[in-house]
Amino acid sequence: MGVSFTALTIGALLGIVQALHRTNVFRGVISSADYYSVLTGHGVLLALFFTIFFLTGIFTWGTSRSLGRELPSPRFSLVWFLLMLSGAVMTATAIFGGLVGQIPFSADVLYTFYAPLQAHPLFYAGLAAWLVGTWLAGADWIRAYYHWRQDNPGERIPLQMFMILTTMLMWYIATLGVAVEVVFFLLPLSLGLIESVDPLLTRTLFWFFGHPVVYFWLMPAYFAWYTVLPKLSGGRLFSDPLARVVFILFLILSTPVGFHHQYADPGVPEGFKFIAMTNTMFLLLPSFLTAFTVVASMEYGARQRGGTGYLGWLKALPWGNPAFAGCALAGIMFAAGGFSGIINAGMNINSLIHNTLWVPGHFHLTVGTASALTMMAISYWLYPQITGKRLQFYGIAQVQPYVWFIGMGLMSNAMHRAGLAGVPRRTAEPQYQQFDFMPVLGSMLEMRLQIAIGGSLLTLGAVMFVLVMAGTWLAERGRGRLRVDSHLPEPISGPSDSPRVLDNVRLWFVIAVVLVVIAYGFPIYSMVADGALNPAAPPFPV
Ligand code: HEM
Ligand code: CU
Repeated sequence: MGVSFTALTIGALLGIVQALHRTNVFRGVISSADYYSVLTGHGVLLALFFTIFFLTGIFTWGTSRSLGRELPSPRFSLVWFLLMLSGAVMTATAIFGGLVGQIPFSADVLYTFYAPLQAHPLFYAGLAAWLVGTWLAGADWIRAYYHWRQDNPGERIPLQMFMILTTMLMWYIATLGVAVEVVFFLLPLSLGLIESVDPLLTRTLFWFFGHPVVYFWLMPAYFAWYTVLPKLSGGRLFSDPLARVVFILFLILSTPVGFHHQYADPGVPEGFKFIAMTNTMFLLLPSFLTAFTVVASMEYGARQRGGTGYLGWLKALPWGNPAFAGCALAGIMFAAGGFSGIINAGMNINSLIHNTLWVPGHFHLTVGTASALTMMAISYWLYPQITGKRLQFYGIAQVQPYVWFIGMGLMSNAMHRAGLAGVPRRTAEPQYQQFDFMPVLGSMLEMRLQIAIGGSLLTLGAVMFVLVMAGTWLAERGRGRLRVDSHLPEPISGPSDSPRVLDNVRLWFVIAVVLVVIAYGFPIYSMVADGALNPAAPPFPV
């Protein structure tokens, strides 16, 4: 978690630099030529390192909490952690080295790093080490599960452990694509061992991983919403069986949808894009189920606390508790992000927003808020428990989720609107800015200012969070009364209300693999049929 929050701090500072630079509000920090290094740093540090280091922290906690035992070998746990850390440091060095003139590093390849962009080998080597670290982390948790299983034959898998198992199985399938991309193509290319790669193939391998990774960001948030949020609202989880169904659906459906990121790619047959779109729309189902279950659990909690009425119960929720408020606000933003995601996923309407600022507008609601704000909020609850230290600067913590919510409301809203107006993403020099002189509602200038103000509030929110965490970290142990207790109540409908087949994780894994083969088998075959290193011949005359 410490590494995760460090990545958040640096990433958030880069965020405000970008937001002010590309809106032309303040350009003193970087030159436009450095914009891509900064953007790569922001994407990699936040989307890959902040989120996934946090995941390893909370899953390690969840494994030992739900199984009621320590992980089998602290030394092994330390090995995967150090591997991930050294990989992350290598990758970050490659990125930021590019900003310092004399150092021969460069990695302006963005967090989507597919060919034909090329980075210094250190960038890919670091990513590979970091990835292997996550695989070993999964092995660590699965090993703990097997030990528990030997002592508890026939028992239902504890819910948190079930979520960790399905998430990691999804991760093993998904990362296969990016591992092949990095180890067989990008790393050899950057080392000069091979001369060319097939850009379509490496993009396809990247997006094979690039969609499921979004669930790797979301699963820790879902994990918190299902197992901790009900308690924070004063109640219990509405349904354990529904939670299991949701995680199984994610395991099965996350990977065979990657082509929805390649709607604009020539060389991917239309029919397979259509299959990806259909699967994507099915993938909305587990998110709707989650909305239902989580809100039902919150309503139950609110009514336990004396809330009444159709909507009046909302007032009975503990909005002054930063852990609760952060999770709940993150959930509300996630609903908005889901709606703009449906637009992204539509094969035809996608061309309206493809590569515009709409897309960052969308994913700052999902990973940038649903995941990020939940991770921050749950830390307010979890960190004092792990350390036995009382949360410091409680007043700042109470305000922080609202600052983030308002900042993101402004930034994301204006990004969506600017995208519809055709403003591109990923550029330091967006056009259109010289035409307006007054920030009239709906003008380019107004949208740019909204992005700048929202982005500044967001960075303020991140700094407030880090202040609370650093203060708590440095505080003395055991002074004052702790505001938390770690007991998680039983669900209203428990695991015994569901068929045992839900726990047959092996079966769901096999089904997931079969679906991936159906979705990807033919397209990948056709890309490599003419040699894996040749750019594929497009299926139409050029
Ligand atoms: C891109 C600002 C937090 C993930 C961007 C862009 C801006 C921005 C303005 C668009 C740049 C462009 O397309 O030219 C901010 C600010 C933040 C913040 C001010 C406040 C701290 C986050 C968080 C995450 C995140 C918490 C994820 C956990 C990303 C990603 C990109 C991005 C993945 C895309 C990078 C690319 O296109 O390669 N951010 N952001 N951001 N942001 Fe953020
Ligand atoms: Cu996707």
